[in-house]
Amino acid sequence: MRAHSTVNNRIPVIRLIDGESPRLLHGADYNPDQWLDSPAILNEDIRLMQLARVNVVSLGIFSWVALEPEEDRFTFDWLDETIERLWNAEVFVFLATPTGARPTWMSQTYPEVLRVQANRVRNLHGGRHNHCQTSPVYRERTRIINTRLAERYGGHPAVRLWHLSNEYRGECHCPLCQQAFRAWLEERYAGDLDALNKAWWTSFWSHTFTNWDQIESPAPHGEPHVHGLNLDWKRFVTYQTRDFMRAEIAAIRAVSPDIPVTTNLMGFFPGIDYFKIGADLDVVSWDSYPTWGGFGSDTGSQMEIDFQAGDWRLASIIGTAHDLMRCCGGGKPFLLMESTPSMTNWTPVAKKKRPGVHLASSLLAVAHGSDSVQYFQWRKSRGSVEKLHGAVIDHVGHEHTRVFADVADVGDALDALGEIAGTTYPADIAVIFDWENKWALEDAKGPRNDDRLLYTETVERHHHALTRFSAQVDVIDSGRPFDRYKILIAPMLYMIKPGVAERIVDFVRSGGTFVATYWTGIVNESDLCFTSGFPGPLADVLGIWSEETDALYPPETNTVRMHAPFTGARTSGAREYQARDLCDLIHLRGAESLAEYGDDFYAGRPALTRNAHGDGQAYYIASRNEECFLGDFYAALVETIRPTRAYDEELPESVHATLRHAANDDGTVTEYRFLINFDSDPARVPPPADGEAVIYRSPSPNTGAADRPATGASHSDTRLPGYGVQVRRFHGPHPRTG
Ligand code: GLA
Ligand code: ZN
Repeated sequence: MRAHSTVNNRIPVIRLIDGESPRLLHGADYNPDQWLDSPAILNEDIRLMQLARVNVVSLGIFSWVALEPEEDRFTFDWLDETIERLWNAEVFVFLATPTGARPTWMSQTYPEVLRVQANRVRNLHGGRHNHCQTSPVYRERTRIINTRLAERYGGHPAVRLWHLSNEYRGECHCPLCQQAFRAWLEERYAGDLDALNKAWWTSFWSHTFTNWDQIESPAPHGEPHVHGLNLDWKRFVTYQTRDFMRAEIAAIRAVSPDIPVTTNLMGFFPGIDYFKIGADLDVVSWDSYPTWGGFGSDTGSQMEIDFQAGDWRLASIIGTAHDLMRCCGGGKPFLLMESTPSMTNWTPVAKKKRPGVHLASSLLAVAHGSDSVQYFQWRKSRGSVEKLHGAVIDHVGHEHTRVFADVADVGDALDALGEIAGTTYPADIAVIFDWENKWALEDAKGPRNDDRLLYTETVERHHHALTRFSAQVDVIDSGRPFDRYKILIAPMLYMIKPGVAERIVDFVRSGGTFVATYWTGIVNESDLCFTSGFPGPLADVLGIWSEETDALYPPETNTVRMHAPFTGARTSGAREYQARDLCDLIHLRGAESLAEYGDDFYAGRPALTRNAHGDGQAYYIASRNEECFLGDFYAALVETIRPTRAYDEELPESVHATLRHAANDDGTVTEYRFLINFDSDPARVPPPADGEAVIYRSPSPNTGAADRPATGASHSDTRLPGYGVQVRRFHGPHPRTG
């Protein structure tokens, strides 16, 4: 096992031209096609971009009708002029393929491009993400427009990245998609219908298929009950999205092979397995819309959280999503492709970011490995659904706004921190988040059919417990390599796919620490239950047998009684914790019990176990316990295993700290430590260590009042003001941490 996951030289996300110094990118979705009749505004945009220190825009995302107003009639002049204007101002372009929405003429001429819902009703033209990804017509029109764009702009020095489509999502149930689904199934089951019937357990309720043509996608008024079918359909949707995306990439690469490609993902979005999508991208990018300053009912990472979250807690949730996105791209730096400079217009309440929050939340992305901060969008649309969504330039049209000043502050920060571009995020802890596991686990009837199964939230809570110790964490799926980590955590890994248990056993045998929880090892990759006892193929390494899983009504609790409190400087010393929601009833099969249940008919049965295996150990947390249990459990683990952390010192709850790392050609290392205070009260932080210097302090938060205090006025090395940010650089022969 290695101490650091990666030690390599800086790899800039985008191709830099010889002689260009590394830089962090700052920019926005730019939609000049909404303003083509106002040349003064288009010129003013350039002046304002320079003021805001914008060095990149994403261009043409929804421009299909402006580029091809009639079939095969192309109008590129406005785009030629826009790219020229931007390049003269030294603004890079991420050029989009326009396939997220299409011109009306296409739906009129070729109704097959319109998406069909699960109820088999074909949509009318409208909205966006409303097309069939299988349709040969849609694919051909996509190939033509992508080829034209690549031919015309692939050689332009401004164009540095292809932005494929926009937030690929959704599914289509049209006859073409049904056919494609059957073909995919025939391949998956090697033409063996019997194998499919067995994998889907269709013998129940007389569901056995006797002909491939009988198979239909799941439907609310048809077949929703065959879990194997539901699971394979979701796999197919990811496959088909990826196949469509690959066709887009092929058209681009045939003409423009040297410019990298990305598409903008959506964090924990449940509909697509982003680890599979990420494998085809040169760079992962994503769109993040947290609801700062209040009740976090939607974090923009699609994660529902069930408590009144302070911003420091929300920062931890968004940090988890950044870690997931980074890992979908194989751990390389990623891009924050969209965020709002002020507020969204689609959350239940569109609260403005409080002073300082925009800078703190933007640098949170950089702290987790992003090489950019970008916005939706540059200039507010005058009309239609996004006219009230936050943008850099408001309807008033000038730069004298609070939001513009906030954005310019981020521009200054990214300029000052340009040398960080391309550095990595070292982590030797991994938490598993697995989309297929999520789909299967949430589709199952039982053990809970209310909203308290909480898979994504459980992953996040384990991650959060480690974030509290500024430990660096990767979020990976069960298909990634484990051997680079010291601690591997698999919350609620209900589905164990082939080879995964073997790799976990190897990991533990060679010295790793593995943590599993209740509701693990229940089914195989087809969602068929293991018949040799739970947790299936993990039973030996965990040294337990889980005979039953109890589900408690929401107000009910049990008690977990520790033999001895967790030991360590930062543990609470608690001897008891409350358990709720799910409690496994387990038997020891080699493991030792560290805690038992206190109540009910299973009082005295093990609630926390440890099994030594080879050079490592495997823990089983049998019940969902209150958050302070995870805090104490990981405090003890972190103290003994010593994973890479940004800080060994205890930091205030509100301070979010991370580390980026570069190995230099001369054999030295450079580390960058971010300290971000996600609270309006000031916070104390440790003084810089030997060899460490503060290279950035955020300016005083901008309240919009005329008399803004001087930059950095309220900082000292050991005091962060409310929403203050400090970045430190350490340089030396060896890493300071790890
Ligand atoms: C998404 C889309 C953007 C825009 C924003 C608004 O992220 O990609 O086009 O609609 O939402 O929040
Ligand atoms: Zn279709």
